[in-house]
Amino acid sequence: MKSKASIKGHPLHPILIPFPIAFLIGTLVFDLLHVINRNESYWRTAGYLEIAGIVTALAAAVPGAVDYFTIVPPQSSGKKRATQHALVNVGMVLVFIIALFLRDKASNIVILGLEGLGVIMLFVSGWLGGTLVYRNQIGVDPRYANAGKWKEAHFNQTSGSIEVATSNELETDQMKLLHVGNKRIVLAKTESEYLAFDDRCTHKGGSLAGGMMICGTVQCPWHGSQFDCKTGLVKAGPATEKIATYPVTETKGKVYLSL
Ligand code: FES
Repeated sequence: MKSKASIKGHPLHPILIPFPIAFLIGTLVFDLLHVINRNESYWRTAGYLEIAGIVTALAAAVPGAVDYFTIVPPQSSGKKRATQHALVNVGMVLVFIIALFLRDKASNIVILGLEGLGVIMLFVSGWLGGTLVYRNQIGVDPRYANAGKWKEAHFNQTSGSIEVATSNELETDQMKLLHVGNKRIVLAKTESEYLAFDDRCTHKGGSLAGGMMICGTVQCPWHGSQFDCKTGLVKAGPATEKIATYPVTETKGKVYLSL
């Protein structure tokens, strides 16, 4: 799903995270060099790197939090993974903050132990973050033939007939994510009509709006389950449960969703 914290479609979180990764690993490396060479300039450099690492980690957390709350599909394996990613990162930053405060008070072993732990947490967090991008496609804006630009809209009205698009707003095979109250519903245009169905894949909660739709079939981007957009029935697994569908009508150039 397209990142909300981005510049011209480029997500900010992956742009910022190389800084804390480099600075915090550099902290451990320079403190190790200090222990080996007893050179005070290594110790001072490590201290500066640690401050830079903590500050840039906090800066990188801001767009990460925006994406966590706005685009990671709720009730999904991706949300669970994103929560673990966030918690490990918070723990990692706390470990480095503690190491920073103890720099002139504790022994080298304690400092190196804390920084080593922080770097391990950094790797675990990176592993989870990589899975979030490369498997769960968080922050990715995939475009397939005729999909057009990512479309999304919020509606306060949560029942009755809701105007959700104009008749010519979507191309054939294009989708639009509708936030209707707490519901996430996909509006999709086939060759002959507009259809609406739940955004949540029944396998592990992938966002179908971020997937691909061709000839009235939508494919989940996470593990490839396919659903009939009109009936919601599963056409290919691993999902086994159908998705909910909703009535859509078109009148005088406007598209209405009924809830
Ligand atoms: S979440 Fe696994 S196929 Fe959709």
